[in-house]
Amino acid sequence: MARYEVIGGKPLNGAVTISGAKNAVVAILPAAILVNGVCRIENVPDISDVRILLSILEGIGAKITREDGTVEIDSTDIHSTCPEPELVKKMRASYYLMGALLGRFGKAHVALPGGCNFASRPIDQHIKGFAALGADVEETEEYVALQPGANGLQGNRISLDVVSVGATVNIMIAAVLLPGQTIIENAAKEPHIVDLANFLNTMGAQISGAGTDTVKIRGVEALQGGTYAIIPDQIEAGTYLAAVAAAGGNVLVKNVIPKHMECITSKLAEMGAEIINYDDAIRIRCDGKLHHTTVKTRPYPGFPTDMQAQICVCMTLASGVSRLTESVYETRFFGYCSELESMGADIQINGKTAIVTGADRLYGSTVTAKDLRAGAALIIAGLAAEGTTYVKNIHYVERGYERLIEKFTGLGAQIRRIED
Ligand code: EPU
Repeated sequence: MARYEVIGGKPLNGAVTISGAKNAVVAILPAAILVNGVCRIENVPDISDVRILLSILEGIGAKITREDGTVEIDSTDIHSTCPEPELVKKMRASYYLMGALLGRFGKAHVALPGGCNFASRPIDQHIKGFAALGADVEETEEYVALQPGANGLQGNRISLDVVSVGATVNIMIAAVLLPGQTIIENAAKEPHIVDLANFLNTMGAQISGAGTDTVKIRGVEALQGGTYAIIPDQIEAGTYLAAVAAAGGNVLVKNVIPKHMECITSKLAEMGAEIINYDDAIRIRCDGKLHHTTVKTRPYPGFPTDMQAQICVCMTLASGVSRLTESVYETRFFGYCSELESMGADIQINGKTAIVTGADRLYGSTVTAKDLRAGAALIIAGLAAEGTTYVKNIHYVERGYERLIEKFTGLGAQIRRIED
């Protein structure tokens, strides 16, 4: 088991380049199996979720070549609709294989996914979508099996009961090659939904409305190969911004789409960080003196739940009392708040709201990451703290942050990976 050692108390300075978006690439790689021919996908981050997904695709017959950040996928010879369950269970987004295999072959047999378990994460809206498209669904405690129902598969109108990124993605992928039109109402609007639509449209799909709450997919007969570059990762960028806010410093965060960052940068500015937006970069300067604030997580364009833990660390060091309300995954606080308390933070959880009273400083401690973003937050806390912090369970962090040690050390942080 490896862990990170973080020696805190040093401001961060310099520049960091943001990688391709995890939550876009984990949707786009499965969607690539709809394409007849070779998809060349650029700006693919080297993270463990991507490595697992590529192994799953290879296991069902896709030919994969990978060089630096570019992946080529040739799905011509895919021969199985039953991806290796042990790999599928290792990550969350493997559930996009349900929509992808249903769309390409009309059937799928996919184990239930694993990944970060910071909350109960139902997939009833995905299933509702597949059924509306005409699939017969068999759902057990182990897997989901899909096959064409009595009237075959075709486009339909689906209104989601909750705004779900995963269900929106899965239904989009499943519907691209079906006859007729599919309309997803109450769809998620995250940047990665738009990225998926742009990828599929580049390959010949007809999707409109991505990024609004109504996505329309007009079925086409086939998709052809092409080249597509993944957008920068909003949450990775937000994590580095939050790290500078908490530890202090002056950093240029490069390769970002500032529009995607507004929900995060506006809060950091409110807390006292200086933010300067450029076309594809953001400079943040902070003297480490932060003011309290109020944040409520919401689906995009609101403040992302995936930044809840990182902004919480900033709040633990801000003057006064901050309020942080979670409206997407209620139990997410339990992944890291007690760990932050062991570092000297003062956090009271009251239902969906954490009341965070700012402390003068945090102190190094040994803490355990319980999910990906919780792990990122503990690293930030370690960077801002006095003394040495050890972060355990770092496999969660490695699921979603490319070259994290290299990027932070490039900013002057004292952080290293220790193999126990
Ligand atoms: N929900 C349902 N039924 C469903 C699906 C979702 O009730 O069928 C509920 C969930 O319980 C939750 C809400 O709807 O309360 C939103 O869930 P959503 O489906 O949007 O989440 P997800 O697709 O499982 C993705 C990201 C998460 C991110 C959430 C919210 C991927 C692979 N994962 O998860 O990212 O937290 O959207 O934005 O895209 C992360 O990157 O660390 C991460 C966990």
